[in-house]
Amino acid sequence: MQIDILTLFPELLNSPFEASILKRAIEAQKVVVNFHNLRDYAQNKQKQVDDYPFGGGAGMVMQIEPIDRCIQKLKAERDYDEIIYLTPDGDQLNQSISNALSIKENIILLCGHYKGVDQRVRDHLITREISIGDFVLSGGELAAAVLCDSIIRLIPGVLGDESSALTDSYQDGLLAPPIYTRPAEYNGWKVPEILTSGNTPEVEKWRENQALEKTKNTRPDLFNDPN
Ligand code: ADE
Repeated sequence: MQIDILTLFPELLNSPFEASILKRAIEAQKVVVNFHNLRDYAQNKQKQVDDYPFGGGAGMVMQIEPIDRCIQKLKAERDYDEIIYLTPDGDQLNQSISNALSIKENIILLCGHYKGVDQRVRDHLITREISIGDFVLSGGELAAAVLCDSIIRLIPGVLGDESSALTDSYQDGLLAPPIYTRPAEYNGWKVPEILTSGNTPEVEKWRENQALEKTKNTRPDLFNDPN
């Protein structure tokens, strides 16, 4: 998989890809992640990439030209499955969207800044708009990093233990059950006995039950979610 991220602030994106699972995935060539600084695609001398909104109003708008130039250059090199704009008014990200994106070949992520991008970018260049939640970030970079993390860990072979993504919260529409490790007792706080019993079928039953109870108590809405 290749992910090309279009941004005005590539430095905001470095560290998530420089540690842990994402770093390993890149080193193992399970994914290629490229940052493209949109300023490099500005043709004017001042490298300007934004301008005042037509009709007036507060804030600046990211111009279509540098974005289009960058996207056309990339599209001339390979086909893209999706060109995604990160925006608080997009479809809210969930596990089913991440699952679907994790099996794509090439995707472009566009990070907005200021008041956002010229609407013609969204109407003519973008194939999909994604939000990571009902709150407004200063720009799309952190949202793009969140989206990348959720996708890349699902690429086959990225997680060491092949089954561990399957037991994540949300993967089967339920929250994950509680987990414990040694010591079996700490400060008098004991691990549930069933987990140290060695009775695997009973452990499985307990986990399923815990997942159901937890979901019922904290996220009952998930039972009605078609995703
Ligand atoms: N850009 C700014 N806020 C965002 C959000 N909540 N999700 C995605 N992109 C954003």
